[in-house]
Amino acid sequence: TRKIIIDTDPGIDDAMAIFFAFQAKELEVLGLTTTYGNVPVEIATQNALTLTEIAGVEVPVAGGVAVPSKIAPRPFPDFVHGADGFGNIDYPAPKTKALEQSAAEFIIEQVRKYPGEVTIVALGPLGNLGKVLELDPEIANLVDEVVLMGGAAIEYGNVSPVAEANIINEPHAADAVFTAPWQVTMVGLDVTHQVLLDNSVLERIKAKSPEQGSFLYDCAQFYINFYSDRFGINGCYFHDASTIAYLLDPSIFEVELGAVRVACEGIAIGQTIFAPQGVSYPEPHWNDVPMTQVCMEVDGERMLKLYEDVMVGAL
Ligand code: BDR
Ligand code: CA
Repeated sequence: TRKIIIDTDPGIDDAMAIFFAFQAKELEVLGLTTTYGNVPVEIATQNALTLTEIAGVEVPVAGGVAVPSKIAPRPFPDFVHGADGFGNIDYPAPKTKALEQSAAEFIIEQVRKYPGEVTIVALGPLGNLGKVLELDPEIANLVDEVVLMGGAAIEYGNVSPVAEANIINEPHAADAVFTAPWQVTMVGLDVTHQVLLDNSVLERIKAKSPEQGSFLYDCAQFYINFYSDRFGINGCYFHDASTIAYLLDPSIFEVELGAVRVACEGIAIGQTIFAPQGVSYPEPHWNDVPMTQVCMEVDGERMLKLYEDVMVGAL
């Protein structure tokens, strides 16, 4: 099994990803760490605890950063995930409590405990990883891989024409993550905009795995309505859950290597600028930047099948 820590801002697609990871036999979830993003961090932490309770797992939760490090906070997208992050379903508060430790402290402790073995799966703005790199830069050499949902290399953004939500919410930390000496895999809008999850999949999961399935189905209705009202599409993007699919079966994705830097100000703030491997530029920003694996294509059918199979316990 592969040890992972999920850094998250639950969030409806975060919930899809977290249950997917809990259900996958190949993954051992060491903990959930939370950040602001879809909701304020206090709600993200409560939501992460709720997800562990619904799944019936004892996975620790550590609360993380509440605001961006260097820019003003952006408004929370309650029109996408609901004010509660779960599509306004009015779910009861969790009974369990978060750790005293901060998210960054938890990540550092676990990575030092299992050097070379921990993969960090980041599903929200990257402030906690920015903190980790600040507090203990050596951690970058001790992590197995960082797999993050965020950014758009070639695809349009979803918050501005060039910026994806997780990156624009903490561009400075994102740039630090893309330039640190660890292996980063970016699962961004280039692939997540290729896949729509619709109610038929959620209904089948609900029928076979009622607890997690009903919860996901109930949350997802608000999220699916947002997509149909806004874009006239039938279903929702599967964003965060794609990272877990990548861990379970990377052959579903086509990856390109390149340097990624993040625009930290101006009208392009939050843009992930992709410089393909092997191309050199007179401008220095792309020199000596580690190669990120950027997911460019995905086999959507295989990904959704993998999700369903894992969620109904067939795999
Ligand atoms: C990302 O932003 C959030 O709304 C989702 O949870 C996902 O992590 C998609 O841009
Ligand atoms: Ca998220």
